[in-house]
Amino acid sequence: MLAEDQKKVVFRIFRFNSGDGGAPRFQEYTVPVQKGMTVLDGLVYIKENLDGTIAYRSSCRMGICGSCGMIINGFPQLACQTQILHLESQVVEVRPLSNYPVIKDVVPDLSSLMRNHTAVRPYIIRLDDEKERPTREYLQSPQELEAYLQFAYCIKCGLCLAACPTVATDASFLGPQALAAAYRYIADSRDSGMEARAPILDTPHGVWRCHFAGACTEACPKGVDPALAIQLLKRALVLRTLRLARVQAPAPVAPPLAPAPRPDIPKAPEPTVALVREQKSEGVEERRS
Ligand code: SF4
Ligand code: FES
Repeated sequence: MLAEDQKKVVFRIFRFNSGDGGAPRFQEYTVPVQKGMTVLDGLVYIKENLDGTIAYRSSCRMGICGSCGMIINGFPQLACQTQILHLESQVVEVRPLSNYPVIKDVVPDLSSLMRNHTAVRPYIIRLDDEKERPTREYLQSPQELEAYLQFAYCIKCGLCLAACPTVATDASFLGPQALAAAYRYIADSRDSGMEARAPILDTPHGVWRCHFAGACTEACPKGVDPALAIQLLKRALVLRTLRLARVQAPAPVAPPLAPAPRPDIPKAPEPTVALVREQKSEGVEERRS
């Protein structure tokens, strides 16, 4: 048996080019693997040493940009965060993310993800004109931050949509990423956008299409838990419809800074350079006199 640092695995890669009209197929490559090597490292090795025609998408190599999502041995994962040896398999099968059209090989077209994300207006909505003509920063307590922080960790990798059985059967469904993003802003104490977002969320293809399979949460590499966000969003929409939602004023801005210096804070010392210059000129005057 090969030692762990000399192991070889077979990469079975989905090959398809939407531009040439050919049928999809799998192609195999043997890759030498060392401890710590990720699936993305394996793809880079293949591209640089075995076949320069394979296509994949990546950027940060550290689980931040969300570019390298793919189906690895049957499960949606980030290639840069998946270590080959942790898969405990002689074969690494790499396919493009499910539920998206394929552009080339393992590169999916994520337009639907971005379209749905944009549709829920993923930014702070205010009824005052503080956003247009900002005066000071908003105030937010640590508890108010906790209410949405987990959902703010989304990197838009799209793995949750690839895992979702509802997205697979309803192309118009907003999907877990967009719904979690909507809740992230609705739960933010600085936001007043519930009324603006409700028409798109409170629809048959919006929040109510989710059957709570929970596959999105299982797939999410950042611990966002979109399934939880969707259930909280359902509760918020029901309370809104029943007019039981607590109407809360959006977070205020910080009070203006004190106009005059505070008497309890000592005055800053004079600039040292000017002081030295002054002392020098005084010395010159003394010597002259
Ligand atoms: S919710 Fe998770 S899986 Fe879905 S896009 Fe965001 S980070 Fe990726
Ligand atoms: S390359 Fe950025 S998340 Fe994998």
